[in-house]
Amino acid sequence: MTPKQTYLTGITTTGTPHLGNYVGAIRPAIEASRVPGNESFYFLADYHAIIKCQDPAVVRQSRQEIAATWLALGLDPDHVTFYRQSDIPEIMELTWILTCQAAKGLMNRAHAYKGVVQSNEESGSADPDKGITMGLFSYPILMTADILMFKATKVPVGKDQVQHLEMARDIAQRFNHHYGNLLVQPEVVVSEQAVLSGLDGRKMSKSYGNTIPLFETEKKLRKGIMKIKTNSLEPGEPKDTENNTVFEIYKAFANEEQVAGFAQAYQDGIGWGDAKQQLFELINAQLSEPRERYHDLMARPDDVEVILQEGAKKARAISVPYLEQIREAVGIAS
Ligand code: TRP
Repeated sequence: MTPKQTYLTGITTTGTPHLGNYVGAIRPAIEASRVPGNESFYFLADYHAIIKCQDPAVVRQSRQEIAATWLALGLDPDHVTFYRQSDIPEIMELTWILTCQAAKGLMNRAHAYKGVVQSNEESGSADPDKGITMGLFSYPILMTADILMFKATKVPVGKDQVQHLEMARDIAQRFNHHYGNLLVQPEVVVSEQAVLSGLDGRKMSKSYGNTIPLFETEKKLRKGIMKIKTNSLEPGEPKDTENNTVFEIYKAFANEEQVAGFAQAYQDGIGWGDAKQQLFELINAQLSEPRERYHDLMARPDDVEVILQEGAKKARAISVPYLEQIREAVGIAS
C-alpha cells in the first residue's frame, strides 16, 4: 500500500485569470483535487504577490478575483484545505526559522534572483542588485515554509519551480540534521502544463497581451475569440487543423467526437467566422455557469471571506501545534 500523500500547491495572487491559466493550471488542479484518498492543501500565496506587485488596490482585487475563480470553477473547500497564506501566521514564523538554516550561497543561485542580476548587468547598470528586494532574494525560503508547514509530500508545480523544490529539500535536510528529524522532505511533481495559444498564435500570456478573458461578459468572450488571428482562406476552401489557433483552443475544450466533427468541418471548408462562432459556443457552454457563480461570489466578498476563514481554521489546527514542536526543537518555545 502506498502511504497517503499530502498534496500542496500555492497560487500566486497576481493578475486576472485567462483561458490559458484555466486550461494550463486551474482545470487540472481542480481535477486532481477530486481524486479521493489524498489530502490536499491549496492556498492563495498573497505574501508572494507583494513581492512583485506593490499596488495595494491591485493586490486586493487580484486576491479576491482568484479566490472567486477557483471556487466558481468547482474547487470544493470541504474536500481540500483552501486558505490564504497571510491568514496563517505560523508560516511567517517558520520562514524566519528556516531563513536561519538557509545558506546564502544557495539563495544566490535562485534563478528568479539571478535573472534580474543578469538583466541589470546586460543593461550596463552600476548596481547588479538594482531593484532587487530581500523579498525577491529570499522568496524560495517563504515557499519552503509554505510547503514544510503542512508536511507536504507531493508538490505539483510548473517547470520553473523545480529549483525551488530542490531548495526546500535542502533547507529541510539541514534543519533535520541540526535539530532532529522534524520536517518532511517534499517531492516535486512537475506538471506538464498544457500551453494554450493566444490571439496571435504565441503562448497565451498576460505579458504578450494576447489573452482571452475567462470570466468577463459573454460578449467579451465572443469578441476575444473573434479576434484570433487566422489566414486569408475563404469559406469553401479546405483548412489545415495543424498550427491553427482556433482549432487548438477548440481541442482544449472539446471531447473526441467534437474534435473529429470540427476537423471534418475544416476539411469541408468552414469559414473562419463560423469556426470561431462554434468555438465560442463550445467554450461559452462550459463557462457560463461558472461565470455566473464567479460574478455572484465577487458580489459577496463576505461569503468568500467566511470560506477562507474556515480554511484557515482547518490549516491552523495543523500549523499551530506543529510550529510549537519546531520552536521547541530550536529552543525558543514559550
Ligand atoms: N511560487 C509559486 C509560483 O509562482 C507559487 C507558490 C508559492 C507555491 N508557494 C508555493 C507553489 C508552495 C507550490 C508550493 O507558481
